[in-house]
Amino acid sequence: MGRPGAPLVPRSLRRALTETGPIGSTTHQLSVRLETPESELDALLERLALHGDVVRIGRGLWLLAAYAELDRREDFHAPEEYVERFAHENGVVLGRYEGPITFSDNTVAPVHRWWPYVQGFSADFVAGVLQDEGLSPGSTVLDPFAGSGTTLVEARRAGHRPWGTELLPPAALAARVKTRFELPSARLLSQARTVLRTAARRTPSSVPFLRETSRQFLAATLRDLTRLRDALPGATDPMSEALRVAFGRILIPVSRLRRSPCLGYGRPDADQPRDPFTEFRNAVDEMAQDLDFLTQSRSRWGPAGHVWQRDARNLDLPPSSVDLAVTSPPYVNGMDYVNNYKLDLAWLGYAKGYADLRRLREALVACDNLGRAAVRPHLGTDDVPDRWLREILRQIRSNVDQKRSYRRDDAHGVVKRYFLDLRPVLAAVYRALRPGGRFRLVVGDSLLAGTYVPGDLLTARLGADVGFHITAVDIARRRWSGQRRDFPLRETVVTLQRPVGDS
Ligand SMILES: C[S@@+](CC[C@H](N)C(=O)[O-])C[C@H]1O[C@@H](n2cnc3c(N)ncnc32)[C@H](O)[C@@H]1O
Repeated sequence: MGRPGAPLVPRSLRRALTETGPIGSTTHQLSVRLETPESELDALLERLALHGDVVRIGRGLWLLAAYAELDRREDFHAPEEYVERFAHENGVVLGRYEGPITFSDNTVAPVHRWWPYVQGFSADFVAGVLQDEGLSPGSTVLDPFAGSGTTLVEARRAGHRPWGTELLPPAALAARVKTRFELPSARLLSQARTVLRTAARRTPSSVPFLRETSRQFLAATLRDLTRLRDALPGATDPMSEALRVAFGRILIPVSRLRRSPCLGYGRPDADQPRDPFTEFRNAVDEMAQDLDFLTQSRSRWGPAGHVWQRDARNLDLPPSSVDLAVTSPPYVNGMDYVNNYKLDLAWLGYAKGYADLRRLREALVACDNLGRAAVRPHLGTDDVPDRWLREILRQIRSNVDQKRSYRRDDAHGVVKRYFLDLRPVLAAVYRALRPGGRFRLVVGDSLLAGTYVPGDLLTARLGADVGFHITAVDIARRRWSGQRRDFPLRETVVTLQRPVGDS
Protein backbone atom coordinates (compact mmCIF):
# COMPACT_ATOMS: atom_id res chain seq x y z
CA MET A 1 0.00 0.00 0.00
CA GLY A 2 1.30 3.47 -0.84
CA ARG A 3 1.29 6.34 1.68
CA PRO A 4 -1.76 8.69 1.79
CA GLY A 5 -1.63 11.21 -1.00
CA ALA A 6 0.48 8.95 -3.21
CA PRO A 7 -0.45 8.70 -6.89
CA LEU A 8 -2.43 5.57 -7.57
CA VAL A 9 -0.98 2.85 -9.79
CA PRO A 10 -3.12 3.05 -12.95
CA ARG A 11 -5.23 -0.06 -13.41
CA SER A 12 -3.58 -1.20 -16.66
CA LEU A 13 -0.10 -0.85 -15.14
CA ARG A 14 -1.18 -2.71 -12.00
CA ARG A 15 -2.53 -5.52 -14.15
CA ALA A 16 0.71 -5.75 -16.15
CA LEU A 17 2.84 -5.75 -12.99
CA THR A 18 0.60 -8.32 -11.33
CA GLU A 19 1.09 -10.67 -14.25
CA THR A 20 4.86 -10.69 -13.86
CA GLY A 21 4.53 -10.59 -10.05
CA PRO A 22 7.77 -11.12 -8.15
CA ILE A 23 9.70 -11.67 -11.41
CA GLY A 24 9.27 -8.03 -12.40
CA SER A 25 9.13 -6.24 -15.76
CA THR A 26 11.50 -3.82 -17.43
CA THR A 27 10.22 -0.44 -18.55
CA HIS A 28 10.68 -1.62 -22.12
CA GLN A 29 8.48 -4.69 -21.57
CA LEU A 30 5.81 -2.53 -19.92
CA SER A 31 5.98 -0.01 -22.72
CA VAL A 32 5.36 -2.70 -25.36
CA ARG A 33 2.59 -4.26 -23.28
CA LEU A 34 0.82 -0.96 -22.52
CA GLU A 35 1.68 0.75 -25.81
CA THR A 36 3.00 3.75 -23.87
CA PRO A 37 6.34 5.51 -24.51
CA GLU A 38 9.14 4.33 -22.24
CA SER A 39 9.98 7.88 -21.11
CA GLU A 40 6.41 8.45 -19.93
CA LEU A 41 6.35 5.14 -18.05
CA ASP A 42 9.75 5.74 -16.51
CA ALA A 43 8.62 9.06 -15.07
CA LEU A 44 5.45 7.49 -13.69
CA LEU A 45 7.26 4.50 -12.20
CA GLU A 46 9.84 6.77 -10.53
CA ARG A 47 7.01 8.77 -8.96
CA LEU A 48 5.23 5.62 -7.78
CA ALA A 49 8.50 4.29 -6.37
CA LEU A 50 8.95 7.46 -4.30
CA HIS A 51 5.59 6.74 -2.71
CA GLY A 52 6.39 3.10 -2.11
CA ASP A 53 3.85 1.62 -4.55
CA VAL A 54 6.41 0.00 -6.81
CA VAL A 55 9.99 -1.12 -6.26
CA ARG A 56 12.92 -1.43 -8.65
CA ILE A 57 15.15 -4.47 -8.21
CA GLY A 58 18.17 -5.97 -9.96
CA ARG A 59 18.93 -4.46 -13.33
CA GLY A 60 15.86 -2.28 -13.73
CA LEU A 61 12.98 -4.65 -13.03
CA TRP A 62 9.81 -3.12 -11.63
CA LEU A 63 7.54 -4.93 -9.15
CA LEU A 64 4.49 -3.97 -7.20
CA ALA A 65 5.71 -3.25 -3.66
CA ALA A 66 3.68 -6.13 -2.23
CA TYR A 67 5.84 -8.61 -4.15
CA ALA A 68 9.10 -7.08 -2.94
CA GLU A 69 7.95 -7.30 0.65
CA LEU A 70 7.15 -10.98 0.63
CA ASP A 71 10.64 -12.22 1.42
CA ARG A 72 11.29 -9.48 3.97
CA ARG A 73 8.41 -10.59 6.19
CA GLU A 74 9.09 -11.70 9.73
CA ASP A 75 7.79 -15.18 8.96
CA PHE A 76 10.20 -15.58 6.02
CA HIS A 77 12.62 -18.46 6.63
CA ALA A 78 15.91 -17.73 4.93
CA PRO A 79 18.21 -20.32 3.31
CA GLU A 80 20.73 -20.07 6.19
CA GLU A 81 18.05 -21.03 8.70
CA TYR A 82 17.41 -24.27 6.85
CA VAL A 83 21.12 -24.98 6.53
CA GLU A 84 21.44 -24.76 10.33
CA ARG A 85 18.35 -26.86 10.92
CA PHE A 86 19.64 -29.44 8.48
CA ALA A 87 22.95 -29.73 10.35
CA HIS A 88 21.06 -30.04 13.63
CA GLU A 89 18.32 -32.45 12.51
CA ASN A 90 20.04 -34.44 9.77
CA GLY A 91 23.60 -34.23 11.05
CA VAL A 92 25.08 -33.00 7.75
CA VAL A 93 27.00 -29.76 7.33
CA LEU A 94 26.87 -28.40 3.77
CA GLY A 95 30.14 -28.60 1.84
CA ARG A 96 31.27 -27.27 -1.53
CA TYR A 97 31.57 -28.95 -4.90
CA GLU A 98 34.14 -27.13 -7.04
CA GLY A 99 33.88 -28.89 -10.43
CA PRO A 100 31.82 -28.27 -13.59
CA ILE A 101 28.05 -28.51 -13.29
CA THR A 102 26.07 -26.88 -16.14
CA PHE A 103 25.34 -28.22 -19.63
CA SER A 104 27.00 -25.31 -21.47
CA ASP A 105 30.24 -27.18 -22.28
CA ASN A 106 28.22 -30.09 -23.63
CA THR A 107 26.93 -27.99 -26.52
CA VAL A 108 30.30 -28.42 -28.24
CA ALA A 109 31.30 -31.80 -26.78
CA PRO A 110 31.19 -34.85 -29.08
CA VAL A 111 27.89 -36.76 -28.93
CA HIS A 112 26.42 -34.47 -26.24
CA ARG A 113 26.06 -31.77 -28.89
CA TRP A 114 23.69 -33.91 -30.97
CA TRP A 115 20.73 -32.60 -29.04
CA PRO A 116 21.61 -29.57 -26.93
CA TYR A 117 19.42 -29.79 -23.83
CA VAL A 118 19.50 -26.59 -21.85
CA GLN A 119 18.31 -28.42 -18.78
CA GLY A 120 21.05 -30.99 -19.03
CA PHE A 121 23.96 -31.15 -16.65
CA SER A 122 27.66 -31.24 -17.35
CA ALA A 123 29.25 -34.29 -18.96
CA ASP A 124 32.44 -33.49 -17.04
CA PHE A 125 30.49 -33.55 -13.80
CA VAL A 126 29.27 -37.06 -14.60
CA ALA A 127 32.75 -38.16 -15.74
CA GLY A 128 34.15 -36.89 -12.42
CA VAL A 129 31.51 -38.73 -10.41
CA LEU A 130 32.20 -41.96 -12.31
CA GLN A 131 35.89 -41.60 -11.63
CA ASP A 132 35.35 -40.89 -7.90
CA GLU A 133 33.17 -43.94 -7.54
CA GLY A 134 35.89 -46.27 -8.83
CA LEU A 135 33.32 -48.74 -10.19
CA SER A 136 34.53 -51.96 -11.74
CA PRO A 137 34.14 -52.15 -15.56
CA GLY A 138 30.72 -53.21 -16.76
CA SER A 139 28.92 -51.82 -13.69
CA THR A 140 25.36 -50.63 -14.20
CA VAL A 141 24.75 -46.87 -13.96
CA LEU A 142 21.18 -45.60 -13.78
CA ASP A 143 19.71 -42.17 -14.50
CA PRO A 144 15.98 -42.13 -13.68
CA PHE A 145 15.53 -38.64 -15.23
CA ALA A 146 17.82 -39.34 -18.15
CA GLY A 147 16.99 -36.20 -20.16
CA SER A 148 19.15 -36.13 -23.26
CA GLY A 149 21.36 -38.87 -21.84
CA THR A 150 24.38 -37.05 -20.37
CA THR A 151 24.84 -39.64 -17.61
CA LEU A 152 24.25 -42.52 -19.98
CA VAL A 153 26.74 -41.39 -22.63
CA GLU A 154 29.45 -40.80 -20.04
CA ALA A 155 28.72 -44.09 -18.27
CA ARG A 156 29.11 -46.07 -21.48
CA ARG A 157 32.26 -44.18 -22.47
CA ALA A 158 33.71 -45.02 -19.05
CA GLY A 159 33.08 -48.74 -19.55
CA HIS A 160 29.72 -49.13 -17.81
CA ARG A 161 26.26 -50.25 -18.78
CA PRO A 162 23.89 -47.26 -19.01
CA TRP A 163 20.26 -47.57 -17.94
CA GLY A 164 17.84 -44.69 -18.02
CA THR A 165 14.18 -43.73 -17.83
CA GLU A 166 12.86 -40.59 -19.46
CA LEU A 167 9.26 -39.68 -20.10
CA LEU A 168 9.63 -36.80 -22.55
CA PRO A 169 9.67 -38.60 -25.93
CA PRO A 170 12.17 -36.40 -27.83
CA ALA A 171 14.60 -36.50 -24.87
CA ALA A 172 14.24 -40.29 -24.59
CA LEU A 173 14.84 -40.54 -28.34
CA ALA A 174 18.01 -38.42 -28.06
CA ALA A 175 19.27 -40.47 -25.11
CA ARG A 176 18.69 -43.74 -26.98
CA VAL A 177 20.44 -42.53 -30.12
CA LYS A 178 23.37 -40.99 -28.23
CA THR A 179 24.13 -44.23 -26.44
CA ARG A 180 24.23 -46.32 -29.64
CA PHE A 181 27.93 -45.86 -30.21
CA GLU A 182 28.12 -48.66 -32.78
CA LEU A 183 25.97 -46.88 -35.37
CA PRO A 184 28.03 -46.97 -38.62
CA SER A 185 28.85 -43.39 -39.62
CA ALA A 186 29.16 -44.12 -43.36
CA ARG A 187 25.67 -45.61 -43.49
CA LEU A 188 24.26 -42.71 -41.51
CA LEU A 189 25.71 -40.29 -44.06
CA SER A 190 24.38 -42.22 -47.03
CA GLN A 191 20.89 -42.53 -45.48
CA ALA A 192 20.88 -38.79 -44.80
CA ARG A 193 21.73 -38.15 -48.47
CA THR A 194 18.76 -40.32 -49.46
CA VAL A 195 16.50 -38.30 -47.12
CA LEU A 196 17.73 -35.05 -48.65
CA ARG A 197 17.19 -36.30 -52.21
CA THR A 198 13.70 -37.58 -51.41
CA ALA A 199 12.83 -34.33 -49.60
CA ALA A 200 13.95 -32.24 -52.59
CA ARG A 201 11.42 -34.09 -54.77
CA ARG A 202 8.50 -33.86 -52.34
CA THR A 203 5.82 -31.21 -52.31
CA PRO A 204 5.35 -29.28 -49.08
CA SER A 205 2.60 -30.57 -46.80
CA SER A 206 0.79 -29.56 -43.65
CA VAL A 207 2.52 -28.10 -40.62
CA PRO A 208 1.91 -29.33 -37.07
CA PHE A 209 -0.98 -28.10 -34.97
CA LEU A 210 0.92 -25.51 -32.92
CA ARG A 211 -0.87 -22.18 -33.10
CA GLU A 212 2.19 -20.01 -33.39
CA THR A 213 3.83 -22.05 -36.17
CA SER A 214 3.41 -19.37 -38.83
CA ARG A 215 5.08 -16.77 -36.60
CA GLN A 216 7.88 -19.09 -35.51
CA PHE A 217 9.20 -19.79 -39.01
CA LEU A 218 9.44 -18.08 -42.36
CA ALA A 219 7.00 -19.53 -44.90
CA ALA A 220 9.81 -20.92 -47.11
CA THR A 221 11.45 -22.57 -44.08
CA LEU A 222 8.16 -24.20 -43.13
CA ARG A 223 7.76 -25.63 -46.61
CA ASP A 224 11.26 -27.16 -46.53
CA LEU A 225 10.76 -28.48 -43.00
CA THR A 226 7.61 -30.35 -44.03
CA ARG A 227 9.42 -31.84 -47.04
CA LEU A 228 12.29 -33.00 -44.85
CA ARG A 229 10.01 -34.36 -42.16
CA ASP A 230 7.97 -36.30 -44.72
CA ALA A 231 11.14 -37.79 -46.20
CA LEU A 232 12.36 -39.17 -42.86
CA PRO A 233 11.97 -42.93 -42.43
CA GLY A 234 9.17 -43.59 -39.97
CA ALA A 235 10.68 -46.77 -38.55
CA THR A 236 12.12 -47.14 -35.05
CA ASP A 237 15.38 -48.84 -36.04
CA PRO A 238 18.58 -47.12 -34.82
CA MET A 239 19.36 -45.50 -38.17
CA SER A 240 15.88 -43.98 -38.59
CA GLU A 241 15.94 -42.74 -34.99
CA ALA A 242 19.34 -41.10 -35.50
CA LEU A 243 17.97 -39.21 -38.53
CA ARG A 244 15.01 -38.06 -36.45
CA VAL A 245 17.36 -36.68 -33.81
CA ALA A 246 19.21 -34.72 -36.52
CA PHE A 247 15.87 -33.31 -37.70
CA GLY A 248 14.83 -32.38 -34.12
CA ARG A 249 18.17 -30.69 -33.63
CA ILE A 250 17.59 -28.18 -36.46
CA LEU A 251 14.13 -26.98 -35.43
CA ILE A 252 15.31 -24.13 -33.21
CA PRO A 253 18.20 -22.98 -35.43
CA VAL A 254 15.87 -22.58 -38.45
CA SER A 255 13.13 -20.85 -36.43
CA ARG A 256 12.81 -17.39 -34.92
CA LEU A 257 12.98 -18.89 -31.46
CA ARG A 258 15.63 -19.55 -28.88
CA ARG A 259 15.82 -21.30 -25.55
CA SER A 260 17.17 -19.12 -22.80
CA PRO A 261 16.39 -21.42 -21.03
CA CYS A 262 12.64 -21.23 -21.77
CA LEU A 263 11.41 -21.24 -25.33
CA GLY A 264 10.90 -17.68 -26.49
CA TYR A 265 11.21 -15.23 -29.31
CA GLY A 266 14.18 -12.98 -29.80
CA ARG A 267 16.98 -14.91 -31.49
CA PRO A 268 19.50 -12.16 -32.30
CA ASP A 269 19.96 -13.49 -35.86
CA ALA A 270 16.32 -14.45 -36.39
CA ASP A 271 16.07 -12.42 -39.59
CA GLN A 272 18.82 -14.36 -41.29
CA PRO A 273 17.00 -17.63 -41.73
CA ARG A 274 19.01 -20.81 -42.01
CA ASP A 275 18.22 -23.38 -44.64
CA PRO A 276 16.74 -26.60 -43.16
CA PHE A 277 18.42 -28.81 -45.78
CA THR A 278 21.88 -27.39 -45.01
CA GLU A 279 21.28 -27.52 -41.25
CA PHE A 280 20.15 -31.14 -41.46
CA ARG A 281 23.22 -32.07 -43.52
CA ASN A 282 25.49 -30.31 -41.00
CA ALA A 283 23.79 -32.01 -38.05
CA VAL A 284 24.29 -35.45 -39.60
CA ASP A 285 27.91 -34.61 -40.52
CA GLU A 286 28.58 -33.78 -36.87
CA MET A 287 27.01 -37.02 -35.74
CA ALA A 288 29.13 -38.98 -38.20
CA GLN A 289 32.30 -37.22 -37.03
CA ASP A 290 31.48 -37.97 -33.41
CA LEU A 291 30.75 -41.62 -34.16
CA ASP A 292 34.19 -41.88 -35.79
CA PHE A 293 35.71 -40.16 -32.76
CA LEU A 294 33.98 -42.64 -30.43
CA THR A 295 35.27 -45.60 -32.44
CA GLN A 296 38.83 -44.69 -31.39
CA SER A 297 38.01 -45.71 -27.81
CA ARG A 298 35.90 -48.72 -28.72
CA SER A 299 37.84 -51.13 -26.50
CA ARG A 300 36.80 -49.10 -23.42
CA TRP A 301 33.05 -48.86 -24.14
CA GLY A 302 30.69 -50.42 -21.68
CA PRO A 303 27.98 -52.86 -22.76
CA ALA A 304 24.99 -51.49 -24.69
CA GLY A 305 22.43 -50.11 -22.29
CA HIS A 306 18.76 -49.30 -22.28
CA VAL A 307 16.62 -46.17 -22.23
CA TRP A 308 13.03 -46.79 -21.24
CA GLN A 309 10.55 -44.14 -22.26
CA ARG A 310 8.52 -44.37 -19.11
CA ASP A 311 7.65 -42.81 -15.80
CA ALA A 312 10.51 -42.90 -13.31
CA ARG A 313 7.95 -43.12 -10.49
CA ASN A 314 7.10 -46.61 -11.68
CA LEU A 315 10.69 -47.67 -12.14
CA ASP A 316 10.64 -51.37 -11.48
CA LEU A 317 14.15 -52.69 -11.88
CA PRO A 318 15.41 -55.92 -10.34
CA PRO A 319 16.43 -55.32 -6.70
CA SER A 320 20.13 -54.52 -6.19
CA SER A 321 20.75 -54.48 -9.97
CA VAL A 322 22.26 -50.99 -10.12
CA ASP A 323 25.73 -49.98 -8.91
CA LEU A 324 25.39 -46.21 -9.09
CA ALA A 325 22.61 -43.75 -9.86
CA VAL A 326 23.29 -40.20 -11.08
CA THR A 327 20.60 -37.71 -12.03
CA SER A 328 19.29 -34.20 -12.03
CA PRO A 329 15.53 -34.16 -11.47
CA PRO A 330 13.31 -31.29 -12.55
CA TYR A 331 13.52 -28.49 -9.98
CA VAL A 332 10.65 -27.36 -7.76
CA ASN A 333 8.44 -25.02 -9.72
CA GLY A 334 10.93 -25.27 -12.55
CA MET A 335 10.92 -25.85 -16.24
CA ASP A 336 7.82 -26.73 -18.23
CA TYR A 337 9.56 -29.35 -20.36
CA VAL A 338 6.49 -29.89 -22.51
CA ASN A 339 6.25 -26.26 -23.46
CA ASN A 340 9.98 -25.98 -24.00
CA TYR A 341 10.11 -28.98 -26.30
CA LYS A 342 6.70 -28.60 -27.97
CA LEU A 343 8.33 -27.99 -31.36
CA ASP A 344 10.13 -31.34 -31.17
CA LEU A 345 7.00 -33.03 -29.81
CA ALA A 346 4.82 -31.71 -32.60
CA TRP A 347 7.21 -31.95 -35.55
CA LEU A 348 8.39 -35.45 -34.63
CA GLY A 349 4.77 -36.56 -34.34
CA TYR A 350 4.77 -37.33 -30.60
CA ALA A 351 1.91 -34.89 -30.02
CA LYS A 352 -1.02 -34.47 -32.41
CA GLY A 353 -2.75 -31.70 -30.48
CA TYR A 354 -2.83 -29.65 -27.30
CA ALA A 355 -4.58 -32.44 -25.40
CA ASP A 356 -1.50 -34.63 -25.95
CA LEU A 357 0.73 -31.87 -24.59
CA ARG A 358 -1.49 -31.48 -21.53
CA ARG A 359 -1.52 -35.23 -20.85
CA LEU A 360 2.25 -35.40 -21.07
CA ARG A 361 2.65 -32.40 -18.76
CA GLU A 362 0.42 -34.12 -16.21
CA ALA A 363 2.50 -37.29 -16.37
CA LEU A 364 5.83 -35.52 -15.77
CA VAL A 365 7.04 -34.39 -12.35
CA ALA A 366 4.90 -31.37 -11.47
CA CYS A 367 5.84 -27.95 -12.84
CA ASP A 368 4.30 -24.54 -12.37
CA ASN A 369 2.21 -24.80 -15.57
CA LEU A 370 0.39 -27.93 -14.48
CA GLY A 371 -3.38 -27.71 -15.08
CA ARG A 372 -5.55 -26.92 -12.07
CA ALA A 373 -7.41 -30.23 -12.23
CA ALA A 374 -4.16 -32.16 -11.79
CA VAL A 375 -3.30 -30.09 -8.71
CA ARG A 376 -6.75 -30.22 -7.10
CA PRO A 377 -6.22 -33.56 -5.30
CA HIS A 378 -3.11 -32.08 -3.62
CA LEU A 379 -4.45 -29.02 -1.87
CA GLY A 380 -4.29 -30.38 1.68
CA THR A 381 -1.17 -29.45 3.62
CA ASP A 382 -1.15 -32.13 6.33
CA ASP A 383 -0.69 -35.41 4.51
CA VAL A 384 2.95 -34.99 3.49
CA PRO A 385 5.91 -37.14 4.47
CA ASP A 386 8.12 -34.35 5.88
CA ARG A 387 7.66 -31.76 8.64
CA TRP A 388 9.58 -29.05 6.79
CA LEU A 389 7.48 -29.61 3.72
CA ARG A 390 4.30 -29.27 5.76
CA GLU A 391 5.49 -25.92 7.17
CA ILE A 392 6.51 -24.69 3.74
CA LEU A 393 3.22 -25.65 2.10
CA ARG A 394 1.31 -23.82 4.83
CA GLN A 395 3.49 -20.77 4.40
CA ILE A 396 2.94 -20.68 0.65
CA ARG A 397 -0.78 -21.08 1.10
CA SER A 398 -0.95 -18.33 3.68
CA ASN A 399 1.11 -15.94 1.52
CA VAL A 400 -1.06 -16.60 -1.49
CA ASP A 401 -4.26 -16.18 0.55
CA GLN A 402 -3.06 -12.86 1.92
CA LYS A 403 -2.05 -11.52 -1.45
CA ARG A 404 -4.71 -12.68 -3.82
CA SER A 405 -2.87 -11.50 -6.89
CA TYR A 406 -0.32 -14.34 -6.90
CA ARG A 407 -0.19 -16.06 -10.30
CA ARG A 408 -1.91 -19.21 -9.08
CA ASP A 409 -3.85 -19.68 -5.86
CA ASP A 410 -3.01 -23.40 -5.75
CA ALA A 411 0.77 -22.84 -5.74
CA HIS A 412 1.21 -24.93 -2.57
CA GLY A 413 -0.56 -27.83 -4.34
CA VAL A 414 1.97 -27.71 -7.18
CA VAL A 415 4.85 -27.86 -4.69
CA LYS A 416 3.22 -30.70 -2.81
CA ARG A 417 2.69 -32.70 -5.96
CA TYR A 418 6.29 -32.08 -6.96
CA PHE A 419 7.61 -33.72 -3.80
CA LEU A 420 4.99 -36.47 -3.93
CA ASP A 421 6.23 -37.16 -7.48
CA LEU A 422 9.85 -37.22 -6.41
CA ARG A 423 9.50 -39.53 -3.41
CA PRO A 424 8.53 -42.72 -5.30
CA VAL A 425 11.51 -42.19 -7.61
CA LEU A 426 13.83 -42.02 -4.59
CA ALA A 427 12.23 -45.16 -3.20
CA ALA A 428 12.49 -47.01 -6.53
CA VAL A 429 16.16 -46.08 -6.97
CA TYR A 430 16.80 -47.21 -3.39
CA ARG A 431 15.39 -50.65 -4.17
CA ALA A 432 17.28 -50.92 -7.46
CA LEU A 433 20.66 -49.96 -5.96
CA ARG A 434 22.91 -52.61 -4.49
CA PRO A 435 23.60 -52.19 -0.75
CA GLY A 436 26.37 -49.60 -0.43
CA GLY A 437 25.45 -48.12 -3.85
CA ARG A 438 25.20 -44.35 -4.11
CA PHE A 439 22.66 -42.01 -5.64
CA ARG A 440 24.05 -38.62 -6.65
CA LEU A 441 21.61 -35.86 -7.54
CA VAL A 442 22.09 -32.33 -8.80
CA VAL A 443 19.20 -30.37 -7.33
CA GLY A 444 18.19 -26.72 -6.93
CA ASP A 445 16.30 -24.67 -4.36
CA SER A 446 13.50 -22.21 -5.18
CA LEU A 447 11.65 -19.12 -4.10
CA LEU A 448 7.96 -18.93 -4.75
CA ALA A 449 5.06 -16.92 -3.44
CA GLY A 450 7.48 -15.29 -1.02
CA THR A 451 8.51 -18.62 0.47
CA TYR A 452 11.95 -20.11 0.27
CA VAL A 453 11.87 -23.81 -0.66
CA PRO A 454 15.14 -25.66 0.03
CA GLY A 455 14.52 -28.25 -2.70
CA ASP A 456 17.99 -29.75 -2.27
CA LEU A 457 17.68 -30.29 1.49
CA LEU A 458 14.11 -31.52 1.15
CA THR A 459 15.22 -34.04 -1.48
CA ALA A 460 17.94 -35.26 0.88
CA ARG A 461 15.42 -35.54 3.72
CA LEU A 462 12.96 -37.48 1.56
CA GLY A 463 15.88 -39.70 0.58
CA ALA A 464 16.58 -40.36 4.26
CA ASP A 465 12.89 -41.09 4.73
CA VAL A 466 12.98 -43.92 2.18
CA GLY A 467 16.08 -45.43 3.83
CA PHE A 468 19.11 -43.67 2.33
CA HIS A 469 21.97 -42.39 4.39
CA ILE A 470 22.73 -38.73 3.50
CA THR A 471 26.46 -38.84 2.78
CA ALA A 472 27.05 -35.28 1.59
CA VAL A 473 25.31 -32.12 0.45
CA ASP A 474 27.68 -29.88 -1.50
CA ILE A 475 26.82 -26.49 -2.96
CA ALA A 476 28.00 -26.35 -6.57
CA ARG A 477 27.04 -22.89 -7.76
CA ARG A 478 24.87 -19.86 -7.31
CA ARG A 479 22.04 -19.19 -9.70
CA TRP A 480 19.40 -16.48 -9.85
CA SER A 481 15.78 -16.93 -8.99
CA GLY A 482 13.21 -16.77 -11.78
CA GLN A 483 10.88 -15.28 -9.16
CA ARG A 484 13.08 -12.59 -7.69
CA ARG A 485 16.06 -11.66 -9.80
CA ASP A 486 17.98 -10.35 -6.78
CA PHE A 487 17.54 -13.43 -4.60
CA PRO A 488 20.46 -15.86 -4.89
CA LEU A 489 19.58 -19.51 -5.21
CA ARG A 490 21.93 -22.45 -5.50
CA GLU A 491 22.52 -25.73 -7.24
CA THR A 492 23.64 -28.56 -5.01
CA VAL A 493 25.06 -32.06 -5.33
CA VAL A 494 23.23 -34.36 -2.92
CA THR A 495 24.85 -37.74 -2.26
CA LEU A 496 22.72 -40.52 -0.82
CA GLN A 497 23.84 -44.05 -0.05
CA ARG A 498 21.95 -47.25 0.44
CA PRO A 499 23.36 -48.56 3.72
CA VAL A 500 25.97 -51.28 3.22
CA GLY A 501 24.35 -53.82 5.51
CA ASP A 502 20.90 -53.38 3.96
CA SER A 503 19.70 -56.27 1.84
C1 LIG B 1 16.86 -31.78 -15.38
S1 LIG B 1 16.30 -32.80 -16.65
C2 LIG B 1 17.55 -34.04 -16.79
C3 LIG B 1 18.64 -33.65 -17.72
C4 LIG B 1 19.74 -34.65 -17.88
N1 LIG B 1 20.55 -34.73 -16.67
C5 LIG B 1 20.64 -34.26 -19.05
O1 LIG B 1 21.81 -33.94 -18.86
O2 LIG B 1 20.14 -34.23 -20.18
C6 LIG B 1 14.99 -33.67 -15.91
C7 LIG B 1 14.29 -34.65 -16.84
O3 LIG B 1 13.31 -35.37 -16.11
C8 LIG B 1 12.30 -35.74 -17.04
N2 LIG B 1 11.11 -36.19 -16.28
C9 LIG B 1 10.23 -35.43 -15.60
N3 LIG B 1 9.31 -36.20 -15.02
C10 LIG B 1 9.62 -37.49 -15.31
C11 LIG B 1 9.05 -38.75 -14.96
N4 LIG B 1 7.97 -38.83 -14.17
N5 LIG B 1 9.65 -39.88 -15.41
C12 LIG B 1 10.75 -39.80 -16.19
N6 LIG B 1 11.32 -38.64 -16.58
C13 LIG B 1 10.77 -37.48 -16.13
C14 LIG B 1 12.11 -34.49 -17.86
O4 LIG B 1 11.48 -34.77 -19.09
C15 LIG B 1 13.55 -34.01 -18.01
O5 LIG B 1 14.10 -34.48 -19.21
